[in-house]
Amino acid sequence: MTTPIRVAVTGPAGSIGYSLLFRIASGSMLGPDTPIILQLVEIPRAMQALEGVAMELDDGAFDLLAGIELYDNPNDGFKDANICMLVGGMPRGKGMVRADLVEANGPIFTGQGKAINDHAADDVRVMVVGNPCNTNALIAMHSAPDVPNERFTAMTRLDQNRGKALLAKKAGVSVSDISNLAIFGNHSNTMYPHFFDTKINGKLVPDVISDHKWLEEDFISTVQGRGKAIIEARGASSAASAASAAVDHVRSWFTETPKDDFVSMAVPSTGAYGIEEGLIFSYPVRCDGKGSYEIVENLELNDFAIEKLKVTEAQLKEEREIVKHLLK
Ligand code: NAD
Ligand code: LMR
Repeated sequence: MTTPIRVAVTGPAGSIGYSLLFRIASGSMLGPDTPIILQLVEIPRAMQALEGVAMELDDGAFDLLAGIELYDNPNDGFKDANICMLVGGMPRGKGMVRADLVEANGPIFTGQGKAINDHAADDVRVMVVGNPCNTNALIAMHSAPDVPNERFTAMTRLDQNRGKALLAKKAGVSVSDISNLAIFGNHSNTMYPHFFDTKINGKLVPDVISDHKWLEEDFISTVQGRGKAIIEARGASSAASAASAAVDHVRSWFTETPKDDFVSMAVPSTGAYGIEEGLIFSYPVRCDGKGSYEIVENLELNDFAIEKLKVTEAQLKEEREIVKHLLK
């Protein structure tokens, strides 16, 4: 039998966890031939609820689920993990802006980064969902000096998915007809969904959607404000769609990206597109199918796009300033 992949998930007793774990166990994330051991990492007071979730995972009778391990601390929970999905943390409530979470959730990621550094498998890959996810990934990366920086990513796939769904609706096509939608920057209200290079059945979006005012204003602001709109409508932060995007993020990381497309992930900046090196910035990337990726650097950004990148970069620098005491 193939050696199982150890997938550690934090916040597994929460709302995202409740959708995410069952998708992972079903093989949606790593494919139908990869057995998985789930290492579920909660805070002590959520352990009882976690036991209930574990019972339900058992009851799912998933062929691929080779083990379920429950932990109340990251040192044991990340031991030998190949993939760490850092979901745990407080979500944004009504009336809160994401920046409110910077101070609340940031400290969690120093301990988790150190635990990954000291206990995870040598090939560990990390993705952060807990908000503010770019800055939390930055904190975890700084707390794990022995793990290569490029192994730390944060999730902007939900934004990419939201943008694709909007464009498909506007153009009256299916989501699979849309390719090359890059999300740049922070997973926040400053993110920039770059539609100028996006294609609908191979044709550039501005050539297919003639309402350019809609593209430049409504499209961008709807993607930027979607998280807030869901909190207002549902009374709680997006959960099932976030879990689905987390599955997409990891699956794409381990799948060769088609040559004529790319996917969006927040990764440590290499200085591409003039962004300060080291910030966790969402870029279009191509993955090689073995767990490595490259930033797509050859998009020719116009002044409109460059301006948007500067705004979201400035916000990430502000968040970094707030957590600078947590960065080593
Ligand atoms: P939730 O409150 O339902 O669940 C959070 C869970 O995390 C709880 O079970 C809690 O006990 C656990 N937790 C808290 N601190 C922890 C720690 N130190 N270690 C392990 N577990 C811990 O929240 P949710 O709706 O599942 O959202 C989780 C996070 O994901 C929030 O920060 C939310 O803002 C974020 N989020 C991100 C995106 C994205 O696109 N990046 C989308 C949606 C939500
Ligand atoms: C989202 O985008 O739905 C989440 O990040 C939740 C939020 O706070 O917006």
